[in-house]
Amino acid sequence: MAKQFEEKQFNIPDLKGISNQTVEEHLKLYTGYVKNANLILAKVDEYSEDASPLVGAGEEHAYALSEIQRRFGFEFDGLRNHEYYFAHLENGSTPLTASSPLHKAIEEGWGTYDRWFARFKKMAMTRGVGWAVLYYDKHTDQLLNSWIDEQHLGHLTGLSPILMLDMWEHSFVADYQPSGKKQYVEDFFTNLNWQSCEKNLEEAKS
Ligand SMILES: [Fe+2]
Repeated sequence: MAKQFEEKQFNIPDLKGISNQTVEEHLKLYTGYVKNANLILAKVDEYSEDASPLVGAGEEHAYALSEIQRRFGFEFDGLRNHEYYFAHLENGSTPLTASSPLHKAIEEGWGTYDRWFARFKKMAMTRGVGWAVLYYDKHTDQLLNSWIDEQHLGHLTGLSPILMLDMWEHSFVADYQPSGKKQYVEDFFTNLNWQSCEKNLEEAKS
């Protein structure tokens, strides 16, 4: 039987632009992903083991089983993506120091930090719901920007997320309205604890 995923707790201070109510509601959505990921794993166990006298073991729920198995990527990534996102907002903002390995890797990839920053923010404005992500690829020792649709469509295999920005409307619409999406992205970076990203890169390289 698979281990159950445990809901994490986050120490998020008052943020610029993003209200405490939005954070509270957003954390409830995270809780939902944890519950649903666990529920799917339990159902996969249940449906895989059942044995009908008319059909072989596991066949009675074969269709449901494949559908919930397909759904697992959405729920699991919804869980994990939010753990990265909320960790970025924990314990107050810290700057990205110019001498840090992350800053150097960004410069190696894009020439300057400002060029990467402009491109990342442009990517975050992609239409539709999803995530703007800065990844580290251990295979080629480089950073890559990429967009994920929903929670899981477009995740890059084998790469480690370094920075994950939630661009679903639930992240910002209550505080910014749909037209304020760009300001939400700006404020996210004002609120960002870059140390969490630096830690992600350190762990990805180890
Ligand atoms: Fe979200």
